[in-house]
Amino acid sequence: MRISSTLALGFGLGVWQLACSAPSKPAPSRPALSSSGPSVVTQAAPAPAPLPWQNKQLSPDQRAELLLNAMTQEEKLTLVTGYFGVQQDWNKYNFKEARPQSAGYVSGVPRLGFTAQWQTDAGSGVATQREAPPSLERTLLPSGISTASSWDPPLAERGGAMIGSEARSSGFNVMLAGGVNLTREPGNGRNFEYGGEDPLLAGTMVGALVRGIQSNHIVATVKHFALNDQERGRERVNVLIDEAAARMSDLLAFQIAIEVGDPGSVMCGYNLVNGAYACQNDWLLNQVLKRDWGFKGYVMSDWGAQHDTVLNANHGLDQETGVMEVGKYIWLDKLAGAISQKQVPQARLDDMVRRIARTLIAKGAIDDPVQPGPIDFAAHARVTQAGAEDGIVLLKNQDVLPLTEKTKRIAVIGGHADVGVLTGGGSAQVYPPGGMAVPGLGPSGWPGPIVYARSSPLSALRTELPNSTISWQSGTDLKAAADAAREADVAVVFVTQWTTESLDFPLTLPDEQDKLVAAVARANKRTVVVLETGGPVLMPWIDQVAGVLEAWYPGSQGGSAIARVLSGTVNPSGHLPVTFPRSLEQLPRPKTAGEGVANDAHFDVRYDEGPAVGYRWYAKKGHAPLFPFGHGLSYTSFTQTNLAARVEGGELKVTLTVRNTGKRAGKSVAQIYVSPAAGGWEAPRRLGAFGKVELAAGASQQLTLTVDPRLLANYEPKRQAFRIADGAYRVTLAPTARDAGQSVTVTLAERVIPPK
Ligand code: BGC
Repeated sequence: MRISSTLALGFGLGVWQLACSAPSKPAPSRPALSSSGPSVVTQAAPAPAPLPWQNKQLSPDQRAELLLNAMTQEEKLTLVTGYFGVQQDWNKYNFKEARPQSAGYVSGVPRLGFTAQWQTDAGSGVATQREAPPSLERTLLPSGISTASSWDPPLAERGGAMIGSEARSSGFNVMLAGGVNLTREPGNGRNFEYGGEDPLLAGTMVGALVRGIQSNHIVATVKHFALNDQERGRERVNVLIDEAAARMSDLLAFQIAIEVGDPGSVMCGYNLVNGAYACQNDWLLNQVLKRDWGFKGYVMSDWGAQHDTVLNANHGLDQETGVMEVGKYIWLDKLAGAISQKQVPQARLDDMVRRIARTLIAKGAIDDPVQPGPIDFAAHARVTQAGAEDGIVLLKNQDVLPLTEKTKRIAVIGGHADVGVLTGGGSAQVYPPGGMAVPGLGPSGWPGPIVYARSSPLSALRTELPNSTISWQSGTDLKAAADAAREADVAVVFVTQWTTESLDFPLTLPDEQDKLVAAVARANKRTVVVLETGGPVLMPWIDQVAGVLEAWYPGSQGGSAIARVLSGTVNPSGHLPVTFPRSLEQLPRPKTAGEGVANDAHFDVRYDEGPAVGYRWYAKKGHAPLFPFGHGLSYTSFTQTNLAARVEGGELKVTLTVRNTGKRAGKSVAQIYVSPAAGGWEAPRRLGAFGKVELAAGASQQLTLTVDPRLLANYEPKRQAFRIADGAYRVTLAPTARDAGQSVTVTLAERVIPPK
């Protein structure tokens, strides 16, 4: 459990009142760390003379071993125990050097010159735990699902490098990102933090983000391992899934993210998997992660997700986190006792310490210690804006977009578009530069408040289209909104759904926004809807509107990004990383599990769909979704031709030619789906490879893509390996998971792919 809800509520209320009466926030260009906060110790005091373990000529393994050998038992226990970083009354410890309002803190070993660990959330930027002075104001990337929509790993890596540099400059050497739980439940309140429903896309994109973060010589943490796919009852839900299904879906996403990003740590989740808590799950931690994948980093628990010291330790947990009160949690005190009573081998504690030390050394956090420093917010604004522009998905366009100079009168309505764009809540909450655009929204306690970033789509659209008359209606008065729409050439309605950690959400837009869209669309056929949501939503008005843009939570420059896509300055190139259902009945579970279950009771959720997650499920069931996985329109047109496939050096290579046949530059995504000609998989086909190219009008380019062999295989538990069956395989190039596209056939020989 993160923090008890009563505690959170009472705490949140106080903090929120405090925040409301707080003086206005300093300008975003202020130094990285607030001088009003507690004093900051950047590093443990250096040891007088270099110690043997500090010899940079030695390998990280050798250095970690030397360090371990120099440590007392107490020092070892220190390294494996993390505290909640926030400094509030309810924290009964007093580590002056913990960063204010941060997620976590682990003391260093000053005697040996070993650094403290300062941990911050999360995947879209440096978060602040709750809105309380001094909250950090940091650049906010578009949400994880938006980044996944770009289908552009280098873009994700640039974003990661940017937020990692802000973490560094803010004094953090561990960033608790990125999240790679698959979208099994479209209503999961944390889908915005993750990379969508496909293991290859999600793993590749999140891995790229991680690589970017760690390029700053800090540690990134892939989370929440594993199958933590819903928030409702997240500490009590017991996920039931068979091994092959897990290895071919959620675990494959983690495996790919870990291969691509090489994260220093992995965070185990709150949930149970097949009867054991994820943080004391021998199969997940010891067998899959450490043995099969050869993970050399360390496993930290989600905040308070440790339950049984002996099981945690013996089953693979390396670091307890989120302790709020010395002695309150089980690990530190009980671990020492468990070791002396031989319930936990001493070798296990040494292994934990070795992993943590080696990781910090290998990632550069020791030799290049974090230093609070200035942040180039202007440069970082450009990074997040580029991310948002590539993550926006044009879902529908009946000759209404882009808006041009010829669109004389535009009515902009709803979604607080006059002042800002929505952000996702919970521990990943970043407070963007300039503070909250709409204060006073949402729960006063955890997981609130609802934060709008100060980046107004309305103002940006006025800048983009200076010769158009652009009116504004808040959308609270349906008649006024419809009247404004009627008088305009085009109406642009912004609709929002706040989602957050610790809650799941219905797929219906809140606050009767569907009625607003319907009323506006009745008044003006040329209505464009801009969605700011954490994941898929239902669109009962879809046939009444001319255009739909999914902007997700677009980050601290989101308003400009949306306006530039609406006006055509930017040609949209995002593609859905999740399927949008037409109705709840299409889902494997129309209701998320646990509804109506008493607050303290455990409950099961059976993932009977196995690896048929998202588009695979729809295809298997023959459901026609509202918008399929992979869908995304452009203002130009492309052809993708000359599809060919060959086996080269044991790998399946696919080539194709992409041509921009339209009149403006744009980016095209090639999606390669694979299937056995004879059928027999969990679903008709799987995404096997993808690539994105940017092309000037009239230009063309040949692409060569390599299909990940695991996507051609099934996992066979008896062999403990993936196996490609010999036979004919169809390789399909299609604009979405649902389109027939064009196919070629290749013959593959049998191949067994060991996990590592
Ligand atoms: C979340 C984690 C987060 C941690 C620290 C937990 O509630 O599940 O994702 O990293 O808190 O803030």
